[in-house]
Amino acid sequence: MLISIPGVLTVEEVIRARNSLEGATWADGRRSAGYLSQAVKNNEQLPDDDPIARDLGEIILTALQNNAPFTSAALPLKVLPPLFNRYSGGQFYGGHIDGAVRPIAGSPHQVRTDLSATLFLSDPESYDGGELIVKDTLGERGTKLSAGDMVLYPGTSVHRIEPVTRGVRLSAFFWIQSMVRDNAQRSMLFELDSVIQRLATDVPKHAALVELAGIYHNLLRFWADT
Ligand code: NI
Repeated sequence: MLISIPGVLTVEEVIRARNSLEGATWADGRRSAGYLSQAVKNNEQLPDDDPIARDLGEIILTALQNNAPFTSAALPLKVLPPLFNRYSGGQFYGGHIDGAVRPIAGSPHQVRTDLSATLFLSDPESYDGGELIVKDTLGERGTKLSAGDMVLYPGTSVHRIEPVTRGVRLSAFFWIQSMVRDNAQRSMLFELDSVIQRLATDVPKHAALVELAGIYHNLLRFWADT
């Protein structure tokens, strides 16, 4: 399941991010790719330890801490510090799958990549191409969101970035280890939580709401690792 989360960053935060990234020193994206991905990766990326990446990464992680749709959809246990990439002049990233386990730079810890996230930083009108194409059981789906919006998709999916034929596409990307590693279980919990939220708005005093919330939490108790 692909889940779009609008407005993760404010307009001011997006502008600040773009301004900082304009003055950044980009490296060849192939440096951080695995052996299979190297052959199809053609973009630029900020090194993990770049101070601009760290600073903007903190802003994103702080924004996510207060983002209810993200929490409900991802049920995050660990979030890797965001990385940043840049595509222009026909650059692309061909079909690949992200590594299942990634180290947290500068620490002995690792994160299982249950979910991948892309946070769009460029206005979609400012570049052509650059769609994120994710393959799932229903086929291929293309995503190109407004600046500040984020898409979450299962780490198990083959995906690619279409060539950017005009302008510049800037984005942040990162991975999440969820408390619920199974995509189907996590999706069901997200749908159930969304239904509960809707009912809580439409029929706030209905007695069954408490029981429904109880079912949500009991399922989460069954399935969650903490
Ligand atoms: Ni990827």
